[in-house]
Amino acid sequence: VPGPTSLDMARAFRSVRADPLSFLVDVADRFGDLVAFPVPGAPALLVNDPADARHVLQTGARSWGKQTVQYAALARVTGPGLLASSESSWIEHRRLAAPAFHHERLQAVGQEVAAAVDDAVRERLGSSSGTEVVDVAALTHRIGLDAVGRALFSTDLSGQARQLLAATADAAELVVRLGRSILPTAAWVPSRTNVRLRATRRRLDAISAQIVAERRARRSMDGAHGDDLLGLLLDSGLDDVAIRDELVTMVIAGHETVAGALAWTLMLLAEHQPAQDRLRAELAAHRGPVSLLGHRETLPWTRAVVDESLRLFPPAWALSRRAQAPDVIGGHEVPAGTLAIISPWLLHRRAATWSSPASFRPERFLDGASVRAGYLPFGLGPRLCIGREFALGEMVLVLARLLGEYRVEVPDRWTRPEPQAQVAVHPRGGMPLLLTRTGEA
Ligand code: HEM
Repeated sequence: VPGPTSLDMARAFRSVRADPLSFLVDVADRFGDLVAFPVPGAPALLVNDPADARHVLQTGARSWGKQTVQYAALARVTGPGLLASSESSWIEHRRLAAPAFHHERLQAVGQEVAAAVDDAVRERLGSSSGTEVVDVAALTHRIGLDAVGRALFSTDLSGQARQLLAATADAAELVVRLGRSILPTAAWVPSRTNVRLRATRRRLDAISAQIVAERRARRSMDGAHGDDLLGLLLDSGLDDVAIRDELVTMVIAGHETVAGALAWTLMLLAEHQPAQDRLRAELAAHRGPVSLLGHRETLPWTRAVVDESLRLFPPAWALSRRAQAPDVIGGHEVPAGTLAIISPWLLHRRAATWSSPASFRPERFLDGASVRAGYLPFGLGPRLCIGREFALGEMVLVLARLLGEYRVEVPDRWTRPEPQAQVAVHPRGGMPLLLTRTGEA
């Protein structure tokens, strides 16, 4: 299998750390759909063929687990919560959490998500009637966090929002740093990263303990835990550490991703005014409130905008798996222990799959192309994102509320912020866009 030499890797060392997305694009351009990295021991492969990616994540998933540096780093913050877990108990936790994401439940929390948008907009934009430059990335982070709090924990996180946003941002940075360090240090070594990590964990522990204590106190008054995610966890018999792990997982996985994705979507709509006009016209013709479900039928253009934005800027830019048993990838036999890296960022820009892959063309999703092989913003197979429907619904709802009231444009002398590969892909330095109030939501 072709791939860069150790010397190539040593030369690229700095750029890999600074800009892993460009490094991946470059490697795939040079070496093709299956690339071997020069590492001692079992092979490390970049798997960029849609059928091979599907094999690792879905059809052959039994042979591939999450025992990778990426998930070990995340587990240092979330513990073995649903996303990072490579343990067999994962399936029990998944079954336990699933009802919180069922359709009836999502139908019920649409209003909560709408309220999260309205509050964040009011707080950030007030009654401003003119045109303002707004960092929409900060706005979408606030909305994403608030939506998770209200929809999954029935908790108003606004009191803790500042602390939580800061703690999760620190956690994300540390996870990325740990995931990329070539010589991972043991957790007990008092390195700077480990010390900061422990402090961040303590902050997250304290916030999660507070959320749980408030709910237990409420239960002793009304006798029920409720059917949101927190209620399910508290009724499940899981111990407090496991509950904390799932809470922290949902806060990080549920708001970093949606916030990044929404910031890029607003940028794409600011750059493509006809697409924004069409979205607004669709909203104007829509009767009744926008719910969290069924958008492919009720708001097909808005949903296609979301699908296309997740193609160009998939927040989960790289997934990793480790072979538990010998397998075959791209016609090559690979031993147990092989690392497979699958990058939605690369697969979504692959010229052999997509026509004009760099162009923003929501219409390509109007014909149901999202089922196409090689489109996997939410992963595939048994570890598919549990929050997929919630996230898609939330994104449509946020666009509907925000663009029903504001026009988004790029400022003068516009250059796109660079995509920064953190836990999710974020615009480096924020996303300053011009917002002009056009009417009532
Ligand atoms: C898993 C992406 C929103 C919670 C995943 C995976 C991807 C992903 C790619 C699979 C990871 C892998 O296979 O290695 C996204 C994107 C989102 C989003 C792009 C938004 C645009 C959410 C939300 C929540 C959430 C809103 C919860 C509130 C999770 C959890 C898992 C997961 C718990 C692990 C599921 C399991 O392994 O059983 N997500 N996600 N995600 N996501 Fe999401």
